[in-house]
This record gives sequence, structure tokens and C-alpha cells, in this order.
Amino acid sequence: MRSDRLARRWWLGLTMALAALALAACGDEPQSAMDPQGPFAQKPDDLWQIVFVIAIVVFVIVQGLIVFTVFKFRERPDDTSLPVQTHGNTRLEIMWTVIPALILAGIAVPTVRTIFELDAEPDGAMTVQVIGHRWWWEYRYPGAGPDGQDIVTANEMVIPVGQPVRLEMTAQEAGGPDNAVIHSFWIPKLAGKQDVVPGRITTLNIQADSEGRYLGQCAEYCGLSHANMRARVDALSDDQFQRWLADQAEPAAEPEGELARQGKELFFREGSSCVGCHALNAGDLSSGAQVGPNLTHLMSRQEFAGAIFELNEDNLTAWLENPSSMKPMRPDFGVGMPDLFDESDPEARREIQALVAYLLSLL
Ligand code: CUA
Repeated sequence: MRSDRLARRWWLGLTMALAALALAACGDEPQSAMDPQGPFAQKPDDLWQIVFVIAIVVFVIVQGLIVFTVFKFRERPDDTSLPVQTHGNTRLEIMWTVIPALILAGIAVPTVRTIFELDAEPDGAMTVQVIGHRWWWEYRYPGAGPDGQDIVTANEMVIPVGQPVRLEMTAQEAGGPDNAVIHSFWIPKLAGKQDVVPGRITTLNIQADSEGRYLGQCAEYCGLSHANMRARVDALSDDQFQRWLADQAEPAAEPEGELARQGKELFFREGSSCVGCHALNAGDLSSGAQVGPNLTHLMSRQEFAGAIFELNEDNLTAWLENPSSMKPMRPDFGVGMPDLFDESDPEARREIQALVAYLLSLL
């Protein structure tokens, strides 16, 4: 008896815990397409609302007829005769062909209209180039600096609030398009998904109606670290955005302090693996490496490595010590950060310290 009650309590507890977990999902979900925060997320949401209501009506009618039929024509103990045998009913068959066809044709009207509306280039849109890499996002703002300088950043896109932004997207990798894979750019609160394809340009409009950070992620399986390829959009007020552009157009800061200066030397020394992949050339992107994220203003960002690690001394040190232990990569395929240091070597540890000091100075 006691164990019975215990088991019942246990089940009750488990049910309540699961219910709490399920309800928690109804809260403020950071990546919900059902919480549109701009016109290009609102339009597909409006369309979905229409289709959903129609789907509910169809569901209720069809299920209602099934339940009605099951009860009305059920077997009764006092009646063992066979039901009426029928074969085909032309009127019914025409009805259940024509009605769905009309419903689908009706839904097609707002659907096609929404597709064209989302595809059109909005008036007064700012252009940002999006480049999908394995496994991080690069964002370029050609000529957007106060004196027409090029701006480039990674993982965290910065946009002005309340203004349409036209994304021109492609996928790239060192070694050409053959080495690149398809990604999909998706910030659920700002727009639907759009594939990012090597060798061609796809477009997507986004707009944030209020300031803040919008989270998203790569939505097309792209290999080992697909799940470690987050996308971020920060919407700033117009003043803040102009200040951001001006800061990003500045050349890289000169390091202060002996350790950071040594780090800079290591970064740029002859044959250095750092500068072979990472450029510090904000302002003019016509030259310089484009393999890894641009580091000119690294510390103006909050996260690195596909926006999965917070940018701080501990994480940067761990990253330089052994990157593929933090994020699955295949540097032997030419993708991802190579393991450059033997951490058991005291000299290597000192070099890592110096490089991290330099990276931390890149505001
Ligand atoms: Cu990039 Cu999945």
C-alpha cells in the first residue's frame, strides 16, 4: 500500500516537472518565428495565421464527420445485418476534389503575394554582404564608413534600428567555391530562412523595429560544426550605429604594454600562421587574408568562433592552446583554426600569453 502511494507521488512529481518544462518553453523564447520583431518577419507570420485558421476549420469538419460516422453507423447488438453496400459516389468524389483545390488556390493568392513582397528590394535599404564560412559568419559593409571605408566584422551583425537591411549572401571558403558548402541564414524574429550558396548570391531583407540583440543560427546542415554556427544581429539607434561605423573604420589599435607588443610581433612575424588567415585591414578590404574572421576590432564583439564562446582572456587562451577541443573542425581539410602550439612547451605558453594580450588590445 505504502509503495503504491509512493509510486503515485513519484509519477505526480514527474508529471508536474514535465509540465513545468513544457510551460517554460512558452515563455520569452529567444529564437521564435512566432514573435516577429520587424516587417519581414511579420509578413510570413500574418500568412501563417491565415493558413492556420483555415487548417483548423478543415480539421474540425473532417474529424467531426469521422466521429459522427463512427457513432452513427456503429454495430448495434440488436441489428446484425450487413450495412448498405455502396460502390463509388460521383457527387461526393467531385466535392472532395473540388473543395480542396479551391482552398489551395485561395491560399496560393496571399502566399504568392507574400513571396514577392519579401523578395522585393525595400526602399532606402542598406546593403550588408553576408558570407557563410565553415563555421562562422562574415559581414561586410562596403564603403559604409564615414569616409567611404569598408567595414568588416564577424558573427555579430550590427544594423540600425527601424531601417530595412538588404542582405546579399554567398558561401565562401579558402580554395574557391568548390571548397565551400551551403549554409542558411536565419534570425527567426527578423526574417525567414534563406540558403547561402557557394558561387551565387541570394538575398534576404531584415529589419528590427526595436533596439536589442536578435539571436539566430545556421539552419542548413553544413558539416562538423553546423551546430556551432550561431548568427547574431545587434540593432542600434541611428546615433549608436553611426558611431559604430566610425569606430570600425579606424585602423587597428596599437598595443600598450610589453606583452601585447610581443604578441603583435608574433602575429605579424615572417611566416606567421596568424596573419596568413586573419587580416587586420578594416577600412580597405582590397588586400589581406580572408580565411578566418577579420580581427581589426575583435574586442568590439562579444563572442567568437561562430559566436559560441564569450570573448575573454580564458577562452582566447584555451582557443589558442587547442581549438579543435573547443569546437569540432577539420583543419587538415583547410577549414578551421589549426592547433599551432604544443602547450607542454613553456615557450609556446609564453607566446600564447603574448598573443592573447595583443588580441585583447584590439578594441
Ligand atoms: Cu553553416 Cu550549418
